[in-house]
Formats: sequence, structure tokens, C-alpha cells
Amino acid sequence: MHKQQLIDHTPALMRIVDKYQDGEDLCHFTFAPFNEGESLNKDEMPDLCNINKVQPGQFMMLTIPNAGEAAFTYASMPDENGHFHCLIRKIGELTDALFELEPGAMVGGRGPMGQGWPNLKDKKVLVIAGGCGLAPVAAKVDALIEASAEPVVYFSARNEAMLVMKKERERWQEQCKLYEAVDDCSGASKSYLAGRQLADNLDQIIQDDGPFDHVITCGPEGMMLAVCRIMEGKGFPADHIWLSLERRMHCGVGLCGHCYMADHLVCVDGPTYRWDQLGELVVKEKAIRAPESPLDMGHAASNCGEEKEGCDGNGGCGCR
Ligand SMILES: Cc1cc2nc3c(=O)[nH]c(=O)nc-3n(C[C@H](O)[C@H](O)[C@H](O)COP(=O)(O)OP(=O)(O)OC[C@H]3O[C@@H](n4cnc5c(N)ncnc54)[C@H](O)[C@@H]3O)c2cc1C
Ligand code: FES
Repeated sequence: MHKQQLIDHTPALMRIVDKYQDGEDLCHFTFAPFNEGESLNKDEMPDLCNINKVQPGQFMMLTIPNAGEAAFTYASMPDENGHFHCLIRKIGELTDALFELEPGAMVGGRGPMGQGWPNLKDKKVLVIAGGCGLAPVAAKVDALIEASAEPVVYFSARNEAMLVMKKERERWQEQCKLYEAVDDCSGASKSYLAGRQLADNLDQIIQDDGPFDHVITCGPEGMMLAVCRIMEGKGFPADHIWLSLERRMHCGVGLCGHCYMADHLVCVDGPTYRWDQLGELVVKEKAIRAPESPLDMGHAASNCGEEKEGCDGNGGCGCR
């Protein structure tokens, strides 16, 4: 049952204060409250820029007049002045328009939205991210570091150019244990773990840095499924594995039904889920859909085109 409140969904005004390329077709944006020059106190700060209102793992809806609105995850928590970061891929109409804008430009935003990651500040956490999935876990990594929880981070990408958030990773090298992997090492400037060997890499990390209390993962859905199955295969409890789902969203506040999965609305009940909850949801959704319609778990999902022997279609053979 989703309780609807009469709340104002008018976007707050924000300003782009910084923008730089951070991976292929990806830009790192810094946003700030539009009226920050008027030395805002915390009560006047729009919620979406308010350090006390945002949790790592939540998202906001970015509006560009005449281009539309779309969901983006907080890649950092807002600071005292309301500045926060997002890592954004140029993929369609809204992001094309956003990439044309320069620092100083005005945009709109609504948020924060959805459920963030659990607290876990006194836990030993393994964070596993793939590709752009690093953005939704980045603020959580920083929060765990700040809480002296010493997270261990494993990050893999298709190739070196897709190893996003370079500045944050350089900082984490000093602040926590960071493992980096790429699928295609050709031309790489240094040596990396082999991204396709996820199970072997996790074995090694658990042996060297484990045991872990919780796992947080975000990336292509095939990778997240592989992580969950590998960890479960090692006897790791499903209710200690957390992941973030990306579903097509329109309203972001539980009104339009675009993001529904089984009886959940991912925009308000998610996007973060425990693996035991999610497994149940996937089973329910399969039961609801016509048998011939494939289970679409978001645009990052893909099938193994090579039909390798032993592939369960979920990345276990390294096909994703
Ligand atoms: C909770 C959440 C957090 C997100 N965080 C980020 C983030 O931090 N950075 C980022 O770059 N993107 C993020 N996204 C994705 C972003 O909202 C979409 O890529 C958005 O559609 C971009 O708008 P656009 O107008 O540029 O592209 P569109 O024109 O909307 O999309 C271009 C093409 O991609 C397809 N497509 C895009 N998104 C989806 C989807 N979710 N499911 C199925 N098909 C899709 C469209 O069908 C279309 O073919 C997030 C999405 C969600 C739900
Ligand atoms: S996006 Fe509208 S209900 Fe979730």
C-alpha cells in the first residue's frame, strides 16, 4: 500500500557549477542550488541539495525545459553548500540537451527519491560495482570510509576507458582497499584483474580481505545476478546482499506506475533491494507475465549471444 501525500512536485532550480568528461560518453556534473549566492541556511536549502535530507543510494529527477525529465543517482552526498555530483551517460534526448549546457546554466530537480543503501556503518562491507554502477555506490563508499568502516571495493569495466570516476578512485586508493578489473586489457596503461573472471576474483578478495558482513552491488543486471549467485554459492546469506535496480521511471514518486515490478514500485520501494526480497519479486513478476515475454530487468540486461556450454544466461560464464 503506497500512501500518497499532497506534496509539491515542482522542480527546484539548480545551477550546473562544474562539468568534465569521465569515461566514454560520460560526464561528471556538479549541481548546486540556484540561489546559493544568497547564503542559504539549512531550512531554505531545497531538499534535493540538503545534506540532511539525502541518503547514499537515493536518486533525483533532473528536468531540462523542452527536453524532459529523467532519474539520476547521487554520486556524492550534497556538501554544506548544497553542491552534489552525478555521473551521467549521454544516451538520449534529455542527456543530449544536458551535455550541451555549460557551467552556469540553470536546470530543475526533484528529490531525493527512493530508498538508499542500509546504514552498515559498523559492518565489514564488500562493494562490487560494474561500469556506471560505480556512481550509485560511490557516496556509500565515502560514507563508510568516513565512518572508519574500511570498505573493500571491487570495480570492473569493459576496458580502461570505461573505468569511470577516476578522481574518486585515486582518492580511494589512499583511503580503502580498491581492486580494479577490465574485460579487455589491450592497450591498458597498467595491469588490472581480468574482469571476466568474477568468481575467481571474488574468491581471492574474500580470502585476502574477508570475511565480510554485507555485500553491496550495482552494475549491469547480469553482473549483479552473477554476484548474488556466487556469494550465495559460498553460503553468504541472501539478506546480507544489497543491490540497486534501474527501471524506466516517469514520476519518481509512486504515481504513474511506470516502474512497477510485481507489487512493488521501484521508485518508492527501491531502487535498493535486498537480494532475498528481489529474488522473490523476480519470481512474482515471472508468474504475472505471459510466458513468451522475456523478463526485462532494465536496459542494462543482455543475453549471452554465444550460447556457451554451461552458461545459465546470467553472466556465470563471463558473457557479460
Ligand atoms: C533510479 C535510477 C537511477 C539512475 N541513475 C543514473 C545515473 O546516475 N547516471 C545515468 O547516466 N543514468 C542513470 N539512470 C538512467 C537514466 O535515467 C536514463 O538513461 C534516461 O532515460 C536518460 O534520458 P534520455 O532522455 O537522455 O534518454 P532516453 O531518450 O530516455 O533513452 C534513450 C534510449 O535508452 C533507453 N533507455 C534509457 N533508460 C532506460 C531504462 N531505464 N530502461 C529501459 N530502457 C532505457 C530508451 O528506451 C531509449 O531507447 C538512472 C535511472 C534510474 C531509474
Ligand atoms: S516512476 Fe512513477 S510510479 Fe515509479
